[in-house]
Amino acid sequence: DRQPIIAIDGPAGAGKSTVARQVAAKLGLVYLDTGAMYRAITWLVLQKGIALDDECAIAELANHCVIQLSPGKDLQTPVQVWINDTDVTQAIRTHEVTSKVSAIAAQSAVRQALLKLQQNWGKKGGLVAEGRDIGTQVFPDAEVKIFLTASVSERARRRQQDFQKQGQPEVSIEQLEKDIAERDRKDSTRKVSPLQKAADAVEIRTDGMSVSEVTEQIVDFYTNLR
Ligand code: C5P
Repeated sequence: DRQPIIAIDGPAGAGKSTVARQVAAKLGLVYLDTGAMYRAITWLVLQKGIALDDECAIAELANHCVIQLSPGKDLQTPVQVWINDTDVTQAIRTHEVTSKVSAIAAQSAVRQALLKLQQNWGKKGGLVAEGRDIGTQVFPDAEVKIFLTASVSERARRRQQDFQKQGQPEVSIEQLEKDIAERDRKDSTRKVSPLQKAADAVEIRTDGMSVSEVTEQIVDFYTNLR
C-alpha cells in the first residue's frame, strides 16, 4: 500500500519544476526532480572527459555512481544535488550541461540505472515526480498525471527570466528558442522512453497562466481523488 503519486511531464521550460515544487509544498508531499539526476550524470561524464558517445564507459559510470537529492529549505532555494559526494547543485544548471544532457539521457543503460533509483524514491508514494517519462515509464500507475506544455516562445521567455534571477550570463531569446526546440526534438524522437504524453494524462497548456493557477489545478485533481 502506498500513498498517491503525482507525475508531471512535459518539455523543457514548461514550468514543471516551479509548479511541481509548489504542489509538493502545498500537499506536504516529497518532490523528485528526475532531470537533476540526468544532469548530474552528464556533469560527471564531462568532468571525467568521457566522450558523449562512449556508451560503455557512461553505462559503467551510471551503474556505479551515487546520486543524492535533497529539497532546498524553501521554494527559492534550489534542490541540492550531489554525485559521488561532490555538490553539483550549481554546476548541473550551466549551459554546457544543459546542451549535452539529452545525448546522455537517450542512452538506455543510463535510463535503466536512473529508473531504479527513481522508483525507489516512489516506493511509499506520497510524492510529486517531474520529468519526461514519469507518467509513461517511471510511475505508470500514478494517480494524477499531468502533461505541462507551453509555446516555445513562452518557454524561452521564462528561461531568460530564470537566468537573470540566477545572475547567469544573458542569452538572447532567439538562441534560447533554438536551444529549447532542439532539446524538445531530441527528447521526443529518441528511441528509449521519448517525451510523450501518457494516454491518461491531463494536458495543461500554461501560456498566460500564473504559477499559482497551474498549481491550484493540480492540487484540485489530487484533492478530488479522495
Ligand atoms: O527537466 P530538466 O530540464 O532538468 O531535464 C534535463 C534533461 O534530462 C531533459 O532535457 C531530458 O533529456 C532528460 N530527462 C529525461 N527524462 C526525465 C527527466 C529528464 O530524459 N525523466
